Amino acid sequence: MKKLIQITLIIIFAYLCIYPQWFMTNLLNLDSISSTPLHKKFNPSTQQYAFLIESNKIPKGLTGVKAKDCSVCHKEIYDEWSQTTHAHALSDLQFQAEISKKDNPKWLCLNCHIPLKSQRKNITVALKNNDILKPISKPNPHFDKALQQEAITCAVCHLVKDKNNQAAILGPKGSKLSPHPVVKDQKRLQNVCIRCHQPSGDQLTPNLLCWFHPLDELKSNQSKDSCVDCHMPKNSKKISIASLKTTSSSAHHWLGSAIPKTYKGYDTILKRGFTPSITASSNITTNKITVNIQNKDSGHHLPSGDPERYFALILTTQDNKNKTSTHVARIGQTWQWDPAKKIGDNRLKPHEAREFELPLKGSIISYSYEIWNTRLNGQNAGYMTLAKGLDEQLASNINQDIKQLHKLYPLATLMYKENYTKNNGVIKLNSQQLLDLSKDQKNIAFRDRIYANLENFPSMPRVTASDK
Ligand code: HEC
Ligand code: HEC
Ligand code: HEC
Ligand code: HEC
Ligand code: HEC
Repeated sequence: MKKLIQITLIIIFAYLCIYPQWFMTNLLNLDSISSTPLHKKFNPSTQQYAFLIESNKIPKGLTGVKAKDCSVCHKEIYDEWSQTTHAHALSDLQFQAEISKKDNPKWLCLNCHIPLKSQRKNITVALKNNDILKPISKPNPHFDKALQQEAITCAVCHLVKDKNNQAAILGPKGSKLSPHPVVKDQKRLQNVCIRCHQPSGDQLTPNLLCWFHPLDELKSNQSKDSCVDCHMPKNSKKISIASLKTTSSSAHHWLGSAIPKTYKGYDTILKRGFTPSITASSNITTNKITVNIQNKDSGHHLPSGDPERYFALILTTQDNKNKTSTHVARIGQTWQWDPAKKIGDNRLKPHEAREFELPLKGSIISYSYEIWNTRLNGQNAGYMTLAKGLDEQLASNINQDIKQLHKLYPLATLMYKENYTKNNGVIKLNSQQLLDLSKDQKNIAFRDRIYANLENFPSMPRVTASDK
C-alpha cells in the first residue's frame, strides 16, 4: 500500500515537471500566472478608459439605471439624449465596421463606447503576456442587454458612489427634491468628458484609432472654456417630473461636427441647435474670386477629433461660354497609414480666418461656393462596406445595414453655400437649405459625392492664412 502511494506521488511529480503549464491552467485554473492584471498595464487614475464603471448597484429610490428608467422623471432630457451620437455609439455603422478588424483591441474599443460593467457580456480581468490584443476575460453574471444597447447612457456620466460607498447620482446642484441620493460636484461632472475624449498613455493601435486630444488644443489656445460650456449650452426645459415650470438646464445634445450617424438625424438637428460652426464669405472682381473661411466658435482646432475629418472648400465657376470648372481646398490633417505618420496639418486654429484666391482669365457669369464638414472620404466609406466578421450580437441587422451604407450613413454636412450670379449678386443659403442638401447625399454614390474624394481635383491657390 505504502509503495503504491509512493509510486503515485512520483508519477504526479514527474507529470508536474513535464507539463507544468497544463497542470496550472487546467487543474488549478491559474492562467493568471502568465498574465498581467489591468492595473499593472494601465494607470487607474489617469487611464480610466481601461477600466469599467461599476453599475450593478442601483441608487435608492430608483428601479434601474437605464436611460429608460430615468426617463420616467426626466423625459425631456431623455428625449434630447436619445437622438445623440452618444446614444448611438454602439450601433454606429462605422464603429461596428472598425471593431470587426482583427488587429483591434475590441475590449478596449468597447470600454469607451459601452463603458458600464453591466453593459458587457464578458469582462476583461487581465492580459496574456502583457498584450492588449490578448485579453483574459470572464463571463459577467450581471450582463444587461438593454442597458448595453443604450451605449453612452445617463449612468455613464451620472452614476457614482457616495461617501458611504452607496450608489448615487452625480449632479451639478445637489437638489433636495430628488427621490434618489445626489452627490453634488459640478466640476467632477463636467470633467467626465476627459475619460474618453482625451485619453492619456500610449496610443492604442499603430493606426491611431481614437487618439485625439481636444483639451490640449484648448489649453494651447489659452481657452478658458470647458467642453460643457460649448457642447452642453443652456436651454429651457422641465428638468424633472417635479418641475412646475421650465428652467435653465444643460442641453444634452452634443452636436459636435453636426454630421449625424443616420440620415434620420437630419430631421431633428435644426431643433437641436444646429448652427454652422464656421463663417465664410466670397467676393468677385474682374481678375479674381476671393473666398474666406473662419473658425468662429470653437476653442479647439477645426476640424478636431478623428484625424480623418476635413473641411472641403469647393468653388465652381461658369464662364460666358458655359464652361464650368471646379476648384477645391482641403483643411484638415494628412496622415500616412500602416503605421500612422502625420505628414500635414493645416487645420484652423480658434478664430483663425483663411483666405483663398482664384485668379480669373475669362469672364465669369456665375459661381457657387460650398463648404462641407466631412467625417469620412468616399474611399474609406467604400472600404467599410467590405467589413467582415461583423458582430450581430452587438448590433442587430448590422450585416445588412453595412451593405446599404450609402443610403444610411451621411459622410458630410454642408456648413456653408452661396450662389453668385451677375444679376442677383451673392445669395447665401439658410440652415434649412443647407440641411436639405446634406440629406440629398443619400441619392448620390460615394464616388460621385463632390467633397468625398478631393485628391482627384485641382487645388485652389492659397494666398493668405492669417490668425485674427
Ligand atoms: C456624456 C455625459 C452625460 C450623459 C450621457 C448624460 N448627462 Fe446629464 N449632465 C451631464 C453634465 C456634464 C451635466 C451638468 C452640466 C452643468 O451644468 O455643469 C448634466 C446635467 C444633468 C442634469 C441636471 C439638470 C440640468 O439639466 O442641468 C440632469 C437632471 C441630468 N443631467 C440628467 C441626465 C439624464 C436623465 C441622462 C440620460 C437620459 C443624462 N443626464 C445623460 C452629462 C451627461
Ligand atoms: C422617480 C423620479 C426620478 C427618477 C426615476 C430619476 N430622477 Fe433624477 N431627479 C428627480 C428629481 C425630482 C430631481 C430634482 C430636480 C430638481 O431639482 O428640479 C432629480 C435630479 C436629478 C439630477 C440633478 C441633481 C442635482 O445636482 O441637482 C440628476 C443629475 C439626475 N436627477 C439624474 C438622474 C438619472 C441619471 C436617473 C436615472 C438613472 C434619474 N435621475 C432618475 C427625479 C427622478
Ligand atoms: C464613455 C466615453 C465618453 C464620455 C464620458 C463622453 N463622450 Fe463624447 N463621445 C464618445 C464617443 C465614443 C463618441 C462618438 C460615437 C460615435 O461616433 O460612434 C462621442 C461623441 C461626442 C460628440 C460628437 C462628435 C461628432 O462626431 O460630432 C461630442 C460633441 C461629444 N462626444 C462631447 C462630449 C462631452 C462634452 C462630454 C462630457 C460632458 C462627453 N462627450 C463625454 C465618448 C464619450
Ligand atoms: C469654445 C467652444 C468649444 C469648446 C470649449 C469645445 N468645443 Fe468642441 N466644438 C466646438 C464647435 C463649434 C464644434 C463644431 C465643429 C464642426 O462643425 O466641425 C466642435 C466640435 C467638436 C467635436 C466634433 C469634431 C469636429 O471637429 O467636428 C468634438 C468631438 C468636440 N468638439 C469635443 C470637444 C471636447 C471633448 C471639448 C473639451 C475638451 C470641446 N470640444 C471643447 C466648440 C467647442
Ligand atoms: C479612450 C476612449 C476611446 C477608445 C479606447 C476608443 N474610442 Fe472610438 N471614439 C472615442 C471618442 C471620444 C469618439 C468621438 C470622437 C470625435 O467625434 O472626435 C470616438 C469615435 C469613434 C468612431 C467614429 C469616428 C467618426 O469620425 O465618427 C469610430 C469608428 C471609433 N471611435 C472606433 C473605435 C475603435 C475601432 C476603437 C478600438 C481600436 C476605439 N474606437 C476605441 C473614444 C474612444
